Amino acid sequence: MTSSTYVEAPTGVPVLDVDPFSDALLHDPYTYHAQLREIGPLAWIPKYAIYATGRHEQMRAIFADHKSYISSAGVGLANFNKEPPFRPKSLILEADPPSHTQARTILSRILSPGTVTKIRESFTKEADALLDEILDASCRKEVVDGVKCIGEAYPLKVFPDAVGLESQGRENLLLYGDMIFNAFGPRNNLLARSAEKVQPVTDWIMAHCKRDMLRPGGFGDQIYQAADAGEISHEEAPMLVRSFLSAGVDTTVNGIGNALWCLASNPDAYAKLHADPGLARAAFEESLRYESAVQTFFRTTSCDVTLAEINIPSGSKVLTVLAAANRDERKWPNAERFDIERRPTGHMAFGSGIHGCVGQVVARLEGELILAAIAKRFRRIELAGEPTRRLNNTLRALGSLPLRLTPA
Ligand code: HEM
Repeated sequence: MTSSTYVEAPTGVPVLDVDPFSDALLHDPYTYHAQLREIGPLAWIPKYAIYATGRHEQMRAIFADHKSYISSAGVGLANFNKEPPFRPKSLILEADPPSHTQARTILSRILSPGTVTKIRESFTKEADALLDEILDASCRKEVVDGVKCIGEAYPLKVFPDAVGLESQGRENLLLYGDMIFNAFGPRNNLLARSAEKVQPVTDWIMAHCKRDMLRPGGFGDQIYQAADAGEISHEEAPMLVRSFLSAGVDTTVNGIGNALWCLASNPDAYAKLHADPGLARAAFEESLRYESAVQTFFRTTSCDVTLAEINIPSGSKVLTVLAAANRDERKWPNAERFDIERRPTGHMAFGSGIHGCVGQVVARLEGELILAAIAKRFRRIELAGEPTRRLNNTLRALGSLPLRLTPA
């Protein structure tokens, strides 16, 4: 369902007459998030004829019941049981058990806590090298664009290095991510604009999913090793590499950009982080809760199901507004407060259940190391101008973030 046909609301479900993918609500989603939570555990959005929830309790329940709320019909607005997917389906994100389990086992092994221990040293070195450059620029009193110079620069260096990609052409990863995350929403102008470059960008991505383009031993090559061992076919291997390239860059880019924005807007929180850079991990976690990089995903019901005493018919699309659950007062006292001393365990920024982000250990590592590197070098971090937004149907993204960083 991508057009604006109005379908009658199901009886007993409160109606929220908004377009969550309009420019206005993507600019400022928090007012509608509050309305969504307050209207009830589940709402009906007539514009797209979908159910939606912004409450933590119901979202957990949805993600915990992957048999009734499936992913193979797409985790965006489009229902792949009714219309063909715009690209070949992801073998992990858009799959249900048992095929999901097979792909997930391989990626979880590659992105295990043990891997993080191995890559920690090189990721730390790169964070330090980048922040030393920024320290130089800041000593010359230059304004730094937190999005370009930190948020994009760091993940675009360390993650593709770990996957085993060559250095050239990495900007394609950002263009691809922008398109993929727009494609989870309706066919609006945002999708049309990012899809303009779809062919050359997709060609670049698929070419770089091939084994001969990947450094031996990197994350990408390890997927091919799993194929050599017979765990998946050699035709499936590039599709799993594609999952790394679609999900592993634009997410952390925006996670880090949003964390910088949170810290620049909350000087007291930054002062605490500067005094104790050991809080970097907690600060990144809280920024994921407070300003969630991935704002929404969908599920499709595979059968008639009851949620909070409401019957949802089989084949319905359900919008899970992760960012709204992350500010649900029922779960988080003072949810509207950015508090880096909070331990936001159970936030929905990485989803939960069997599809909960398989790359979260790497994302957390990147967030922690970059914030610690900043905290050690700078006494203050302030906005040096108005940040701009890069609207996306799924991601909470900044276009630019002018920062003044005061050396310690
Ligand atoms: C701050 C950064 C990140 C955020 C906010 C994020 C968010 C998410 C969310 C919300 C999901 C759940 C999708 C669903 O339930 O349908 C997910 C799944 C996934 N993420 Fe991440 N992610 C991040 C970083 C990464 C990284 C660095 C990688 C790769 C190394 C990655 C790879 C994946 C994959 C492959 C899935 C699908 C897992 C499955 O379906 O079992 N993500 N991510």
